[in-house]
Amino acid sequence: MDVASIELVERFPDPLDYCRLRSEAGMAPRSLEAARRGLANTLHGVSLLHEGAVVGMGRVIGDGGCFFIVSDIAVDPKWQGRGLGKRIMGALMAWLRTNAPSSAVVSLVADGDARHLYAKYGFVETTPHSVNMEYQVE
Ligand SMILES: CC(C)(COP(=O)(O)OP(=O)(O)OC[C@H]1O[C@@H](n2cnc3c(N)ncnc32)[C@H](O)[C@@H]1OP(=O)(O)O)[C@@H](O)C(=O)NCCC(=O)NCCS
Repeated sequence: MDVASIELVERFPDPLDYCRLRSEAGMAPRSLEAARRGLANTLHGVSLLHEGAVVGMGRVIGDGGCFFIVSDIAVDPKWQGRGLGKRIMGALMAWLRTNAPSSAVVSLVADGDARHLYAKYGFVETTPHSVNMEYQVE
């Protein structure tokens, strides 16, 4: 399996591929209904395609001015550790450099070792000044 055969397209996966890839990458599930509503509000998203199948994704959400959030970064486990996470982040950061105005904040929640990936793009941990908090809708 050659990573050179993987194409990055500036389009986010559809809800079915999104839910499938989150699951395959070991991320918490999102319902199809939540995905249908949420993906429609993506500011910018990318997909990695191998022979037409989605094997990676990442997107930017937010208000388009003050606050941006990098979200849903995932690579199919069969393809991890070969630079594809960096291809996704590189594409999203290029979009942010062009589209986010001065003074905007770009944030994300880093799960586990993924923080090493984001550190390469200038993201810094905000603890103890601030901590991530969330409320899970049942
Ligand atoms: C996080 C994820 C997207 C990274 O994708 P990937 O294709 O494996 O990443 P890459 O091969 O591009 O590696 C990216 C960099 O992250 C760093 N990295 C990744 N895992 C690491 C680890 N366990 N320890 C230290 N650094 C690590 C490496 O420094 C690497 O850069 P380098 O090769 O220049 O050293 C992928 O592992 C994934 O989908 N994980 C499951 C879902 C997930 O947790 N998503 C993130 C939610 S916040």
